[in-house]
This record gives sequence, structure tokens and C-alpha cells, in this order.
Amino acid sequence: MRELTVPTADDMRALGRRLAAQLRPGDLVVLTGDLGAGKTTLVQGLADALGVTEPVLSPTFVIARVYRSGRLPLVHVDAYRLGSAVEVEDLDLDASVEESVTLVEWGEGLVDDLATDRLVLRILRSDDAADETRRVGVAAVGPRWSDITV
Ligand SMILES: Nc1ncnc2c1ncn2[C@@H]1O[C@H](COP(=O)(O)OP(=O)(O)O)[C@@H](O)[C@H]1O
Ligand SMILES: [Mg+2]
Repeated sequence: MRELTVPTADDMRALGRRLAAQLRPGDLVVLTGDLGAGKTTLVQGLADALGVTEPVLSPTFVIARVYRSGRLPLVHVDAYRLGSAVEVEDLDLDASVEESVTLVEWGEGLVDDLATDRLVLRILRSDDAADETRRVGVAAVGPRWSDITV
């Protein structure tokens, strides 16, 4: 596993942009981290680089949103309120996992059946509350992600 240092929210959006350039249909990215870690911030940069024109808002209360204005459909899920294993197909979204890029916040352990291959990004805040720097652990599961560069 690699670990990145991400000093600012802009840097987190830039990380999302770098990732976006490498995404293709069927990809699954899992983002873990506490409330306020920066998961949605990363998705905002990623969506922007995919060409999504709508503002990307946290899907905490709606569980999932689909953005179709970009290069690929973007499915953005917040699994925080889901207590058990989630199948994105069960959310009855107007998009399939196969055609889309799926980003799941807080999904570790909940989305293991979604796709064999996934990229897991673990966002950690500093112990020092005044320090905005995040550390991001990058774990690639499966051959799809073996040569990803973020
Ligand atoms: N280095 C950083 N990386 C990401 N977000 C940061 C950073 N520094 C400050 N922030 C701020 O922290 C907040 C993260 O919120 P959000 O992305 O909604 O978190 P989450 O989705 O993990 O709950 C935003 O207000 C963002 O501007
Ligand atoms: Mg969020």
C-alpha cells in the first residue's frame, strides 16, 4: 500500500482529478475516513475532471446520486446510513455498475461483493486539529488497479 500526503482541500480535489483520467466503465473506488475527512471533496475533483457539470453534493441523506453529464456516468454512494452489505444495483439507480464509475463513501466491508477489483482510498486526518493535512492510503485490490498512478 502506498500513502500520499495531501496538504489542502485543493490538493484532495487534484488527487480526484488525477484518478479520473484513469477511470473506465465498471470501476469501483471505495473511500473511507471519518466525517469531514475529505471523501466528498475528492469526489468533487474527480467529477469535475470527468466533465460533470452539476455540483456534486454529499449523498448522505439520499444514499446515492448519479451524474450523467461527464465522460462516464458517475454513481456516488454514501453508505454511512446503510447497516448491511450494499449492492449498488439494489439502490435502483438509473445506471448500471458496468457502464458507470462507482464511488462509495464509507463503504469498506459493505461493498465487497460489488466487484472483485477495487481501489480503496483511506483518508486519515492529523491528530493535531489545526493541521489540515490528510494522509491517504491507497490499496489496490485486483489486477485492474495494479498499475494505477495517483
Ligand atoms: N487536506 C484536505 N483534504 C480534504 N479536505 C480538506 C483538507 N483540508 C481541509 N479540508 C476540508 O475538510 C472538509 C472535508 O469535507 P468532506 O469532503 O465533505 O468530507 P467527508 O465526505 O469525508 O465527510 C471540507 O470542508 C474541506 O474543504
Ligand atoms: Mg462525504
